[in-house]
Amino acid sequence: MLVELLHLVVTPVSLAHRRRGYLRESVLLMSRGRRCRHAWAPHLAAARAAILEACDGLPQRRVAVVLGSGLLQDVPLAELAARFERVDLVDAVHLWPARFRARAHPNVRLITADLVLQPDRPEPLAALCGGETVDFVVSANLLSQLPILPLDRPGFVPPDLGSRIVRAHLDGLAGLRARVCLVTDVEQIEEDRAGQVIARLDLLHGVRLGRADQRWTWDLAPFGEATRHRRLIHRVEAFRDWRGP
Ligand SMILES: C[S@@+](CC[C@H](N)C(=O)[O-])C[C@H]1O[C@@H](n2cnc3c(N)ncnc32)[C@H](O)[C@@H]1O
Repeated sequence: MLVELLHLVVTPVSLAHRRRGYLRESVLLMSRGRRCRHAWAPHLAAARAAILEACDGLPQRRVAVVLGSGLLQDVPLAELAARFERVDLVDAVHLWPARFRARAHPNVRLITADLVLQPDRPEPLAALCGGETVDFVVSANLLSQLPILPLDRPGFVPPDLGSRIVRAHLDGLAGLRARVCLVTDVEQIEEDRAGQVIARLDLLHGVRLGRADQRWTWDLAPFGEATRHRRLIHRVEAFRDWRGP
């Protein structure tokens, strides 16, 4: 609790992002990640391996951009920094643990940006990853997170907002000239101790991705984390060369 409070106070973040809840969400995710580190380990290892496989065989390795870099738990940062001339880490919030890890690599830059397409602003992916020298882009467990805070805001929320946000990110990725690795959770499954499925939640708001190169499950909230007798499992999919569904 004290550590969470400290992060809320000392993390450099714009007032707008703080107000919209991005900092709070990041700190909560960090805390859950610490509590569930053993349960999360296979998922994080699978994501890191998928990302490294995806950049194998690239003819050029100039700039790599990681979207949703967060705490760099599922991002093989040292390996990317060794393989590419420059690595750009993009997120709405960079907590201090990620800042310290990035500082260990002189060719790694932190970029703070909102990756949800806004009507009055340029397309964020084209601006951040559309450059001639960008050879590799990773969307790192970001896609399902993009609609969460916009859907949570007060006032009228259009019923199709979630699917529009998901589609805009996928279209933005598909329009890039770089090779794109997409790693995302697609479905949440709530199970009881008998293994009975209690509920399923489509994390991509009805948008279908097509055939993934790899699939695995992420034990997001083991028994006792969210509730005592229920656990939350996320189905995760990885695409090594995303070109659209
Ligand atoms: C599940 S975490 C990704 C985990 C991260 N790749 C890691 O290795 O720790 C999702 C990330 O998406 C970021 N995010 C959510 N909405 C965003 C937005 N609109 N713009 C930029 N980043 C966003 C969050 O701040 C968070 O770091």
